[in-house]
Amino acid sequence: MSFNVAATAYDRFMGRFSRPLSRVCVDWLEPRDDDRALDVGCGPGALTEVLADRLSAASVTGVDPSEPFVDAARQRNPGVTVLQASAEALPFDDGAFDLSVAQLVVHFMTDPRGGMSELRRVTRPGGVIAASVWDFAGGRAPQSVFFRALREVVPGAEDEARRAGARRGELAALLRGAGCHDIEEAELDVEVASPTFEDWWEPYTLGVGPAGAQLAQLSENQRAAVRERCLDLLGEGPIRTGATAWAAKGTH
Ligand SMILES: C[S@@+](CC[C@H](N)C(=O)[O-])C[C@H]1O[C@@H](n2cnc3c(N)ncnc32)[C@H](O)[C@@H]1O
Repeated sequence: MSFNVAATAYDRFMGRFSRPLSRVCVDWLEPRDDDRALDVGCGPGALTEVLADRLSAASVTGVDPSEPFVDAARQRNPGVTVLQASAEALPFDDGAFDLSVAQLVVHFMTDPRGGMSELRRVTRPGGVIAASVWDFAGGRAPQSVFFRALREVVPGAEDEARRAGARRGELAALLRGAGCHDIEEAELDVEVASPTFEDWWEPYTLGVGPAGAQLAQLSENQRAAVRERCLDLLGEGPIRTGATAWAAKGTH
């Protein structure tokens, strides 16, 4: 699994984007002070931390299938309950939460419909279910320049654009299919600065996620060609990477 990696590697690769996204996401969700929140696919705990700050550690629970991420999320968020579990089989009673969120996770679920139904099941009637996925299909993901270069070197390489939630309207459709109502959609924007090209590139060499896993499987020459093409496209830096996530929320 491309998420069976050290939390520090994840931080450098995706955490640099998911931390600011977490703040934008929670501002958009506007949780109530007394909400019990579930962070599904919490990773090392970017959104978990923002939820715990806004609510309280005791009222936040995280789950993730990756053991190193569960360990990191526990260590980083004392007082938060973090369990090893997948969205498709959440180990909670019906209606246990007021707010259930899957940030940057739906496109990794083996069964996105089943996963969203589970999020709704563990949310109380009247509670909120929400999800976000980068706009891979529209070329507005943090990895979009990398995937453009990768596909020039390896035609047909997977760029996550066909995954669930990566297109406008797909997350809303999943929520509707799970039985949610009063669905709202949003585009959540972040911008991340890298002082140099090397600072931007190095996280791709850590084997994290589909991008890192694909790069690791290339020959040395192909890897060098992808790096060179990214450098052509971005320059030596500083580099500002803007990224946009599709987001949708609905009511149980
Ligand atoms: C891009 S990371 C997002 C992590 C975190 N939510 C964040 O915003 O930084 C995707 C996460 O989804 C988790 N994941 C993969 N498949 C999953 C599933 N079926 N159910 C729940 N989480 C899953 C991975 O282990 C990984 O931690």
